[in-house]
Amino acid sequence: MTTIGIPNEIHPGEKRVAATPQTILKLKKLGFDVVVESHAGHGINAIDSEYREAGATVIEGTKDLWAAADVIMKVRPPEENKDLGVHEADLLKEGATLIGFVWPAQHKELLDRLAKRKATVFGMDCVPRITRAQKMDTLSAMANIAGYRAIIEAANHFPRFFTGQITAAGKIDPAKVLIIGAGVAGLSAIGAAKGLGAIVRAFDPRSATKDQVASMGAEFLELDVKEEGEGKGGYAKQMSDDFLKAEMALFAAQAMQVDIIVTTALIPGKPAPKLITQGMVESMKPGSVIVDLAAEQGGNCVLTEPGTVVTHKGVSIIGYTDLPSRMASMSSQLYGACIVALLTDLAKPVAAAVSEPGAAAAEPPKAEIHINLEDEVVRGAIVLHNGKMMWPPPAPATPPTVAPPEPGVPTKSSASVAVAKAASKGHGHGESNGINPWVLAFGGLVLLGIGFLVPSEVKAAGGDTLSHLTVFILACFVGFQVVWSVKPALHTPLMSVTNAISGIILVGGMLQLVGTELSVTTILGAIAVLVAAINIAGGFLVTNRMLAMFRK
Ligand code: NAI
Repeated sequence: MTTIGIPNEIHPGEKRVAATPQTILKLKKLGFDVVVESHAGHGINAIDSEYREAGATVIEGTKDLWAAADVIMKVRPPEENKDLGVHEADLLKEGATLIGFVWPAQHKELLDRLAKRKATVFGMDCVPRITRAQKMDTLSAMANIAGYRAIIEAANHFPRFFTGQITAAGKIDPAKVLIIGAGVAGLSAIGAAKGLGAIVRAFDPRSATKDQVASMGAEFLELDVKEEGEGKGGYAKQMSDDFLKAEMALFAAQAMQVDIIVTTALIPGKPAPKLITQGMVESMKPGSVIVDLAAEQGGNCVLTEPGTVVTHKGVSIIGYTDLPSRMASMSSQLYGACIVALLTDLAKPVAAAVSEPGAAAAEPPKAEIHINLEDEVVRGAIVLHNGKMMWPPPAPATPPTVAPPEPGVPTKSSASVAVAKAASKGHGHGESNGINPWVLAFGGLVLLGIGFLVPSEVKAAGGDTLSHLTVFILACFVGFQVVWSVKPALHTPLMSVTNAISGIILVGGMLQLVGTELSVTTILGAIAVLVAAINIAGGFLVTNRMLAMFRK
């Protein structure tokens, strides 16, 4: 039986908590016992009794809480508890598991401490950003909130409406917002600013973001300099000096026009590029606002002070590094749900004890944590295993040309490689295809040759079937190669095409069903009708679910 512990977050100003009463219900359903430190939910207005009602046991003392837990769920990495004069890592029970943000490259000393406790550590920041692990992607969940909150903070400091208005007292122009960097946070900021009625422009060196920006209703700014910003695995690469010069000239021109700039530019493993100069700030209209989301990595604006707001010549520069914590209850809910998703994969029911006759049957079976290092999500997220250093994870086997992630930052490089890998494996299960296309081509040619070389007597006695078979096998080879090389981003349109093909198969299958005689042809026709119908119905269901995600 495994007990999960939720301690108070002690980092100054941190309001989030690793579990809400709602996520506790899910942990209980998985079969875990849960203990919560008294007042752990104070930052999200969740009182102890709510945690108790959800099935957790509330424990008063910090030390007692850590001592009672086999698994500790946290938001921030363990740190010195100044009140108790002890480091949180030393409070962890020997051999226990820790799940939370760890940032292993920046916390070598912490990992040494945890290794001494023979701890097993999962870094939520290390979960690979692959399709299967999207539900555990705390980085995106937090960046989404940060982007939204950046606009709310800007609105708080901006002395005007975002939306334009024509009133009896006069015309009010809409605010103009520039978003630099259209990653998760940037796109979320575009959505929030558009929602408030602003005119939004955005810039990103990755050309792939152009359509995303346009689909959010913002204008994508372009440069004359042709340089692709896409680096490893969908993250940006460090741009050339010429490119940086050109984009800064663009920002200098924009700074004179726009009222609000939100900067999110970041290259994994590198300090944030300095893109907004003092001159640009001074060229902005008084009352303008800059929100620098990259403040923690040094900031995109030279005047940013991490964690605070500075005003320079009438321009407010917001350098908050705790934007998700400013929407603590929602962040905690999403963060907690991501951990529940990870634990759902890790949980294994304990062999059921023989229940007492007459005992309540409603209790879910107890669970324990089972670590499968063959699972790419587990392998990516695990930082320490029983005190043994597991980070960084080995580079994915395919394709071999991609380098391991930059130390310190969970890059999308591993993510996208894994996305491609997951796609080729049918979401990570089964064998990689690994078939040399030359072998396939050779096989196809041999089959084609057989088709041509078949003697006419054989052709007369069923040669048609043979040539159909040849075409069928060739179609399988070609289809296999074509479908498997499609980028994951294009899977949805691909699904529509396969639906159309299924329609053709359905008609073909139905034609074979004409007549009442039972033969191999009619059986195959019936199977074709069944499989194609399942594909078409499934396609519609999935498409409908995807469309529902975009409906308000
Ligand atoms: P991301 O990596 O998805 O996005 C960064 C974007 O910056 C990418 O689209 C990239 O192409 C772009 N970029 C890189 N170099 C650029 C350049 N020279 N010019 C223009 N754009 C450039 O990261 P995500 O998840 O969207 O996060 C964005 C930033 O927000 C990060 O710095 C992250 O640490 C920060 N963040 C801050 C929080 C806070 O409380 N302040 C909370 C969460 C995230």
